[in-house]
Amino acid sequence: MLQKGGSPMKKIMVIGAGQMGGGIAQVAAQAGYSVILNDLKEEFVTRGLSVIEKNLRRNVEKGKLEAIESAATLGRITQSTALQDAASADLVIEAAVENMVIKSQLFAQLDEICPEHTILATNTSSLPITEIAAFTKRPDRVIGMHFMNPVPVMKLVEVIRGLATSDEVYKTIETLSQEMGKTPVEVNDAPGFVANRILIPMINEAVYTLYEGIATVEDIDQVMKLGMNHPMGPLALADLIGLDTVLSISEILHEGLGDKYRPCPLLRKYVKAGWYGRKSGRGFYQY
Ligand code: CAA
Repeated sequence: MLQKGGSPMKKIMVIGAGQMGGGIAQVAAQAGYSVILNDLKEEFVTRGLSVIEKNLRRNVEKGKLEAIESAATLGRITQSTALQDAASADLVIEAAVENMVIKSQLFAQLDEICPEHTILATNTSSLPITEIAAFTKRPDRVIGMHFMNPVPVMKLVEVIRGLATSDEVYKTIETLSQEMGKTPVEVNDAPGFVANRILIPMINEAVYTLYEGIATVEDIDQVMKLGMNHPMGPLALADLIGLDTVLSISEILHEGLGDKYRPCPLLRKYVKAGWYGRKSGRGFYQY
């Protein structure tokens, strides 16, 4: 059966119920898809689902969503802790940790579990799609689908082609992104793609500015908010993304593109201290 917009899929499994995976599950369910929300432990899935419930409730309170639509959206999401559940999915969107070893194992397993037609997408923010695809026997059906945080709000999806990604798979994901209310942008496989190739060096430079004592955290953010009309300053944004994630993307840019992308030592120090930003209660700001 074809969905509206013509993308031939009904069921989507999202792996990882954290801030990105939860958001992706929400927008997929709101677009009418059956969603399996999967994570390693039941408590992770429950926590992800409670964030989705809170987001939907807020939208109902604001009059932006009918209560009946909110209930229907939640009714389309099922919980899972077994990767085997991917056997019934037409599309898997992986939003697990940014670690190539973990992703390679996941994709090799998914390739065994899923039917031939299933598309395997990754929400990686910077790991090479071509390399992830090489762990499967279906590199033509592997693609990058990079959402922005917070997923329910941000309009962009970078759709990244690996070396072997087929045109048919690209088109399907482009249509699906539109059905989710997003604007897809086609991007080739390169370190950081486009969004993080540009964003992360800006954040890293803000951290260097702090490290060198040029201005305070608040003043650096104020300059970028009032001077450049950014909705939030780079240091507050780093706290939103997660400093561990910012560091891991910086390292990939550094390794792939050279010394000008070297992560600031202060960023490393904060991550070593466990100051990951909002999710740990402390980053450049306290929460
Ligand atoms: N989940 C769902 N909805 C959220 C949300 C969240 N986490 N945070 C905010 N919102 C919603 C609010 O409910 C509000 O909705 P309404 O318009 O319906 O009332 C709307 O977003 C605006 O929120 P606020 O009024 O509370 O605050 P704001 O105007 O300051 O906006 C923001 C918050 C949307 C986060 C805005 O500050 C912003 O756009 N910041 C920049 C975000 C950004 O750059 N994201 C990209 C990060 S990079 C990335 O994700 C890629 C990567 O790989 C690292």
